[in-house]
Amino acid sequence: MVVRYKWAGTVFDPEFNDARWNDEWLAVPIAPIPSGEHPDGFRVERQPLEVAEIFGRHYRMEPPFDCRLLYDGDGLLWMSDTPQERMMMYNNAQRTRGHVLIGGLGLGLYPQYAAAAGATGFTVIEESPAVQAITGPVLESVLDVPLMVYTGDVSVELAGPVTQRYDTIFLDIWETLDPVHLPWINRLRNHALRHLVPGGEVLLWGYFWMVSLFVDACHQLLAVKPGQRAAWLAEGAASSPHAVALLTPVVQHFDDVDDMEEALEWCRRHIVNLALPD
Ligand SMILES: C[S@@+](CC[C@H](N)C(=O)[O-])C[C@H]1O[C@@H](n2cnc3c(N)ncnc32)[C@H](O)[C@@H]1O
Repeated sequence: MVVRYKWAGTVFDPEFNDARWNDEWLAVPIAPIPSGEHPDGFRVERQPLEVAEIFGRHYRMEPPFDCRLLYDGDGLLWMSDTPQERMMMYNNAQRTRGHVLIGGLGLGLYPQYAAAAGATGFTVIEESPAVQAITGPVLESVLDVPLMVYTGDVSVELAGPVTQRYDTIFLDIWETLDPVHLPWINRLRNHALRHLVPGGEVLLWGYFWMVSLFVDACHQLLAVKPGQRAAWLAEGAASSPHAVALLTPVVQHFDDVDDMEEALEWCRRHIVNLALPD
């Protein structure tokens, strides 16, 4: 079932799955960010990837995939442009139209795929000056559509007054695809919808995947007898206290489950609508 959520003619489609396998991304040239030392101790390394994990499966890359790894000032791996990342950015680019607001810049994959797919301009809000210094010049050298990059917190901008409207807003500021982020992401989404032109669309990296993980967890939970579910969660079946908190309304809502499909549909709707308060 396709569920579309509309606010004042704008669209967010929780059924859009950007984790769809494709190999079309291979045909779009991506300018690599330069390897080496960058300001504030940031470092980019080039690494030939012989085996890549893509959507939970391992694939041998022939020839090895030329990957870039960005390490932060503490030497921690922060970002990489793996095949999975590229596929997901490519898929989001195919849904993209017109003038795009992006938060945040990262390694600049998405704007390059979106430009190739016909986007007409980009406004980027990126909180890290180091990322801007590393990725900004590369993008400026390859994009033939306008690009404006601002330093800031995109969540603050989205919560603030509407000064400009966009055809597409693409957000990718969470570090992992953990469903515990969803209430916060849903608040970002609700704020973002206000900044669209009628018919505009909000795209959220990995959203369908995160919802599916939540629904899978609900399925496991609801397979446990009603009286034992809370204890099952408390004993560590959920991955973290945040996950327990996310699943507790499911424990409270259901007693015996006669129709699992119907129950899981409730779970799906629940998580898509659950947003942190302003
Ligand atoms: C995973 S990367 C984005 C990758 C990007 N989509 C690409 O195509 O390469 C996430 C980026 O968001 C930035 N970021 C994180 N939180 C932010 C925030 N609240 N506002 C703006 N940028 C943010 C990070 O500094 C990082 O550059």
